[in-house]
Amino acid sequence: MKLPKQGLPKETILEQLQTFQKQDLDWRSGRVFGFVYDPGESVRDLAKEAYGRFLTENGLDFTAFPSLLRLEREIVAMAANHLGGDSNVVGNFTSGGTESIILAVKAARDRARAQRPDILKPQMILPETAHAAFHKAAHYLDVQVVPVPVDPATFRAVPSVIREAITDRTILLMGSAPSYAHGVVDPIPEIGRIALEKGLPFHVDACVGGFMLPYFRRLGGKAPDFDFSVPGVTSISMDLHKYAYTPKGASVVLYRDPDYRRHQIFASAKWSGYAVVNAAVQSSKSGGPMAAAWAVLHYLGDDGYLEIARRQWEAARDLAAGIEAIPGLRLLGRPDFCMFSFTSDEVNVFLLADRMNARGWYIQPQLAFGASPANVHLSVSTANAEWVQAFLADLTQVADEIRGQRPDVPEDLLAAASGLDPAALSDHDVDGLLALAGISGEAPSPQAMAGINQIMNALDPALRERLLVAFANRIFRG
Ligand SMILES: Cc1ncc(COP(=O)(O)O)c(C=O)c1O
Repeated sequence: MKLPKQGLPKETILEQLQTFQKQDLDWRSGRVFGFVYDPGESVRDLAKEAYGRFLTENGLDFTAFPSLLRLEREIVAMAANHLGGDSNVVGNFTSGGTESIILAVKAARDRARAQRPDILKPQMILPETAHAAFHKAAHYLDVQVVPVPVDPATFRAVPSVIREAITDRTILLMGSAPSYAHGVVDPIPEIGRIALEKGLPFHVDACVGGFMLPYFRRLGGKAPDFDFSVPGVTSISMDLHKYAYTPKGASVVLYRDPDYRRHQIFASAKWSGYAVVNAAVQSSKSGGPMAAAWAVLHYLGDDGYLEIARRQWEAARDLAAGIEAIPGLRLLGRPDFCMFSFTSDEVNVFLLADRMNARGWYIQPQLAFGASPANVHLSVSTANAEWVQAFLADLTQVADEIRGQRPDVPEDLLAAASGLDPAALSDHDVDGLLALAGISGEAPSPQAMAGINQIMNALDPALRERLLVAFANRIFRG
């Protein structure tokens, strides 16, 4: 594709963009349990307007645009206050959970470089439920992951196992509040005690849950303490673009004190251009996400969020109870949050997800990993609340329809694939495997994933990763 020789009229362009969206998940329907956190029209309109007003302002230089500095300071102060922080807590606005986590890992690594220069190969301990963003941070920052199992019944991290895994190269402990896959909060106070005893930084990944958990507690939720009120917690990531319902591109990373945060900041004066100092990974960036986040936080306010929390809490509770009442389905762990997953020994969860998605819902298949069997995940947001009973009725029907069925994948193929050694495969072999799994140059529809998931589920995680990279390398072509 080439640039058009002459520019096109605005109407033509907007029409084209709209046609591109036709195959997308219909998040406006309220039937999508993931990806999108829709606060409804009035909040969306305000967010758009605020975003538009700051679209062009550049966060590259906070002396040139003091409005952005002010927005960032105020958002961070609200976030710190929300998470039990005192006036020492500092932080920054970032583009999302992954950026917040990368920065938290960088701060821990660079703190260790300054204080423990003898550590040449730093390690961080990750319970197997830690979000993949930590593995990405480890990969980008050359920190070694020390994976540890979680409790196979509750899917919570086990403090004694974390303690055992600490070596003289450990630079960071982490816990989730909650974990994405199962919606359970790790025992943060116990891990905090270990961190204090060993003098180690401790990051709490509250990306998905940090904003809502305080409201759920006000509604009677029993999740463990997870914020700066817990001794030993040194940094927290909390996304706004999830359950604070602000547009995408909004998260914060917070530190107990500026002395620690210093290690997050990057400056460069070793080139011939302007002096660079970046608190976050991005350098040039639109003021839009920050202005929209500030606007939505002020528009909804504490009362507005409490009301949203109540709707979500009740919807998630009713969904979880309804799912457990369907013969053969069972929840994984006891969720502390409005997201959870369920599995089954009788109903193939990958087929179930396809069939539900074909009925206009979106639920997310998750592959088996560690203690967690193959399952289906639901992130419940306020937009889903009125659909609980309709969803449960469809789920009951679909589960009955497919009980005992499996995706149409030859057993011998599954057996052969499960024994493959990723290190011994050529690129040609990987292409062959993608073809066998039915993956071509096009993105498969969420309604036709069961066979692919069944094969992926049988593979070693390292081989899954290899196929995913090959797939992405194929799909992002013009
Ligand atoms: C617990 C947790 N941490 C980190 C992330 C990564 O966030 P993002 O997708 O905004 O980069 C997520 C995303 O769902 C999450 O649930």
